[in-house]
Amino acid sequence: MTIKAKALQIIENTAKKIPVVNRLLEKKYDKLLAEIEKSAKPYKDSKSFPSIPENGIDREKILKTMADFQQREEDKWKDGFVSGAVYHGDNEHIDFLNKIVALNSQSNPLHSDVWPSTGKYEAEIVSMTANMMNRQATSEKDDVCGVVSSGGTESIMLAMKTYRDWALDKKGIKKPEMIVPTTAHAAFDKSSQYFGIKIRHAAVDENYQAIVQEVKKAVNKNTIVIVGSAPTFPHGIIDPIEEMSGIALKHKIGFHVDACLGGFVLPWAEKLGHDVPKFDFRLPGVTSMSADTHKYGYAVKGTSVVLYRNLELRHYQFYTTSDWPGGLYFSPTFAGSRPGSLSAACWATLLSVGENGYLEATKKIMETANKIKKAIEDIPELYILGNPLWVISFGSNELDIYKVLDAMAHRQWSLNGLHMPSALHIAITLRHAQNGVAERFINDLKESVAEVKTQPKAKGGMAPVYGLAASLPFRGVVGDLLKRYLDILYKV
Ligand SMILES: Cc1ncc(COP(=O)(O)O)c(C=O)c1O
Repeated sequence: MTIKAKALQIIENTAKKIPVVNRLLEKKYDKLLAEIEKSAKPYKDSKSFPSIPENGIDREKILKTMADFQQREEDKWKDGFVSGAVYHGDNEHIDFLNKIVALNSQSNPLHSDVWPSTGKYEAEIVSMTANMMNRQATSEKDDVCGVVSSGGTESIMLAMKTYRDWALDKKGIKKPEMIVPTTAHAAFDKSSQYFGIKIRHAAVDENYQAIVQEVKKAVNKNTIVIVGSAPTFPHGIIDPIEEMSGIALKHKIGFHVDACLGGFVLPWAEKLGHDVPKFDFRLPGVTSMSADTHKYGYAVKGTSVVLYRNLELRHYQFYTTSDWPGGLYFSPTFAGSRPGSLSAACWATLLSVGENGYLEATKKIMETANKIKKAIEDIPELYILGNPLWVISFGSNELDIYKVLDAMAHRQWSLNGLHMPSALHIAITLRHAQNGVAERFINDLKESVAEVKTQPKAKGGMAPVYGLAASLPFRGVVGDLLKRYLDILYKV
């Protein structure tokens, strides 16, 4: 924490103890949250169930209610109005995956004796992903391996816990530190909080790439791991992975490449001739990677792969106990019981899409992204941040970009709001590669920019929330606000 941040935290904690200040803050929150609650809880009019019903409700009735909700929600993502979120979404693909999930709905990899098929699926998912990440380029003493986790966040957190335990055991590091570019995913900060690993942020340059000198400067005797993204969530930018790998190698520390977003795009984009720098196990300093099968791997939600350069490192991830009255217990990831159906569907996805399917999908995504990038460049009020491939962030020097976010939301679009600096992004998926979707996005974006230009004072939407978040020097206040938002989501 910087001295300035520390000072602000002290002022904030003191201010919160003053009842008048606290009441003022609460009032401001309440107004904002009341607005947000309306859109976060659209099913307030339907019957709610705060307790288990005394008698079970007819299955057909339940199915009908849920089908109604699904129908109300489906059009938006299916028609390509949402950034990221659903990465494939074609009917035939969904029907196939639904059959696999139904077929395996009872399976649980924790009981590997009862469902050995799940073990086969997971071993092969890891192997297919490792080969895609150029496992064959590693040396003889390496043996790239990994596990299937529940998503990108879990893959990242597992890797960070692994480095903490590895560094304690091998190097006696008791006050571990990680070096993380400011644009890396929040899951690294979450790992820092959960596992007591101090986070040292490295700044990014004008192209939103981690500054190599900053990373070098941050290395010390407590550093356990450096993190790079391929690409980053906010701006879709690939960090200087090769240079970062060199720093890690020199200092004999871990280097995790977060390819959660790009793992199932970049290998194919490279084959298609796009300018993709090396980002995988071809680089000798890369000791682990995360790649999300449930994003551009096109599996159903709930799987990701974390890979390690060798078995020794993976052992620091595994949990075992031999002293528990419940028997000999071991589990590879954070969960105990897990849904085997998701690993089954993931395996089936990789097999059914195949290399050519991924190449074709990536080609479509890149073509759509190029169309959209070109159109944004042609809108004089907007600019693109850095030089992204298919996750495109854009800001404005003239307009409140969050008002553009709201104007796009009125046109049904669900884009991501970013901050520091203020910007929006769209992660292009196969949903946007459908006929006419890119053209609709471009048209709506032009209209939204024109609208914000003529009505800059329009009220409501997310603009005031981002405005408040940007204007408050006290980050804890913003954090409290987000916790209260989570409370709303759990309100019956
Ligand atoms: C670069 C990157 N890393 C990690 C994650 C976290 O993935 P998940 O939401 O599956 O936990 C994301 C999610 O978008 C991401 O883009």
